[in-house]
Amino acid sequence: MTWCAEQTRICYSSSGVRMTRTFVLLCVGLFHSLCWAQMPEEGGGEEEVVELFTTPATRMGAAVSDFGYNLFRQLDSHDSTANALLSPLSVSIALTQLSMGATEQAEKELYRALRYHTLQDLKIHDTLRDLQVSLKSAGKGFKSAARLLLARRLRLKPDYLSDVEKSYGVKPITLTGSARDMKTVNDWFKSETGGKITQAMSETKRSGGISSVGAAYFKGKWHTHFSQTNQLQNFHLDGEEPVQVSMMHQTNYPLKMGKDSDIGCMIAQIQMEEGVSMFLFLPDEVTQNLTLIVEALTAEFVQDLSMNLHQAEADVVLPVLKLNYNRDLLSLLPDLGLSEWLAKTDLIKITSQLAKLSAVHHKVVMEVAPEGSQRVTASAVQHLTYKVDRPFVFLIRDEPTGTLLLIGKVLNPQK
Ligand SMILES: *[C@@H]1O[C@H](CO)[C@@H](O)[C@H](O)[C@H]1NC(C)=O
Repeated sequence: MTWCAEQTRICYSSSGVRMTRTFVLLCVGLFHSLCWAQMPEEGGGEEEVVELFTTPATRMGAAVSDFGYNLFRQLDSHDSTANALLSPLSVSIALTQLSMGATEQAEKELYRALRYHTLQDLKIHDTLRDLQVSLKSAGKGFKSAARLLLARRLRLKPDYLSDVEKSYGVKPITLTGSARDMKTVNDWFKSETGGKITQAMSETKRSGGISSVGAAYFKGKWHTHFSQTNQLQNFHLDGEEPVQVSMMHQTNYPLKMGKDSDIGCMIAQIQMEEGVSMFLFLPDEVTQNLTLIVEALTAEFVQDLSMNLHQAEADVVLPVLKLNYNRDLLSLLPDLGLSEWLAKTDLIKITSQLAKLSAVHHKVVMEVAPEGSQRVTASAVQHLTYKVDRPFVFLIRDEPTGTLLLIGKVLNPQK
């Protein structure tokens, strides 16, 4: 199934599908006219993708993001009728720590899934660690933590534990098999996330020799404040009665916008504090089939959006969100080209005993509230609206590094 992930990638990064399609951008000028803009005809090929990202941090950011988009595509197709949230950094870090215990061949397989094979970076662990530190810096509103869990009965190799500690500042947690294990794990995540993630893990697998936990919390602050009406408004559902949700709204809100007719949605980019921004993908129709949008997402595509969407002012309406999500991601990994690796695992530097990956716990909590540091200053009234009142896809991105912090689809804000 490697082919699946690869094929998706090539579709959107080689000279085929995406490069030749046109992209409608909403031009906001005197006449609010629609204009057409051709995406730049940069050549295809996988190496080309990396060309856009020129520093070790931005290349790593692109790798983490592309791994995230690939994983999110799997999540979307497995859970097609439910909300989904993913913060790829913690998953990348956990799998990278596992790769430190692998044979050369297994490391190669993992690196490919993690999109490291194009990085030409000899200091992957340093780069990843530095990226993690910069993304967690105060003000961005992002917290993320990852830890491997290893059963003591596997007679773990001490060198591996200290290697991980040297590179990432923490050792894997050694599980004793007692009831206290879960408390140990959850207490650590609680303290790493400033109390925001209280239950990173809700169950331990008995058979679990090796597992991982990754968790993230996001509550960013808008650059421009929303006024909250505290009014309940209709949020339309696919094939069901609308639900009433609390919305925030603002007229003359500064944002970047564009219409992409190939994937049938209006795209908006809204600036948050400290170089973070939110991208919203709002389908033209009320549908819970968001496949076309999800299929289009790559680090390069989103980078293009950040450069090509047009500055505008609009009446913006957004649901006040509080999302809490957890899932074991293990069943999604085979489709990222890891089925062979999962079958034999090959973690000889961790233990000489037979050990398999039994769970990839993932927990994400996210809040969207009206607070922002600036007030709207615009006076001209423009007749543009961006009303998020139906199923949508969103992502949170760190602009300086291009790293995907969080991606989600919201089919029903009340679920
Ligand atoms: C979702 O939409 C895609 C593209 O339009 C289509 O190929 C696919 O069959 C749809 N999936 C479902 C479950 O309807």
